[in-house]
Amino acid sequence: MTSFLKGTSPAMRRFLPGVLVLSSAFAIMAAVAHSEWDTAEAASDPQTLLHVPNVDYRRDWTLLGSFSVLADDPEAGAKEFHVVYTLPENVDAYRKTGAFPDGAVLVKDVFATNTEAMTTGTSSYADTLIGRFVMVRDEANKYAGASPLWGEGWGWAFYDGTEKVKTVSTDYKQDCLGCHEPVRNQNFLHFQGYPILKN
Ligand code: HEC
Repeated sequence: MTSFLKGTSPAMRRFLPGVLVLSSAFAIMAAVAHSEWDTAEAASDPQTLLHVPNVDYRRDWTLLGSFSVLADDPEAGAKEFHVVYTLPENVDAYRKTGAFPDGAVLVKDVFATNTEAMTTGTSSYADTLIGRFVMVRDEANKYAGASPLWGEGWGWAFYDGTEKVKTVSTDYKQDCLGCHEPVRNQNFLHFQGYPILKN
């Protein structure tokens, strides 16, 4: 800084700090404007909207409910353990309106299990993560037609293992819809497993 100032007039030296403050303010404004633009851009792109949320959802979101899927030999306990989360504000909205709001994200963890004889009985619990299912509410079907992963009021995708961005799903009609058909009249969700939405 000092060598940079050498040769500048005293007036210029007085003036410089103001210039620096102003130019950094402009830099910050430009950065903010850019990030807003990025967000607006991302929000209109059906590919970008659909991913495993990049937050600590197991700690910070609400656990809606969990499902245990029995092993072929029921004596062996559960072969999978499914745990579903959404943001607390979606729970509030559901309690007021009876539906999840536009943009609401649901994540279902699919865990492999361990089963042990415990003092409670044969008990199965979550072990390694097999993958995650994500659904994103698209109330007005804005993105249906723009991507084969969107339709029936939702974005639909599965992410293998710990992958968060690159889905292995190609078409929700083949990959998801058939199995969710029995709960079409519940907006394709399994509300019977979510005690928090029942009270
Ligand atoms: C084999 C049938 C089957 C397939 C295929 C399937 N689902 Fe599901 N899904 C279910 C069932 C049953 C539940 C609730 C019970 C459970 O998880 O055991 C569920 C629950 C969910 C949940 C939790 C929200 C809820 O209440 O429904 C999400 C999110 C989800 N599925 C997303 C998807 C997506 C996305 C796809 C396609 C990539 C998909 N599912 C494919 C059967 C299926």
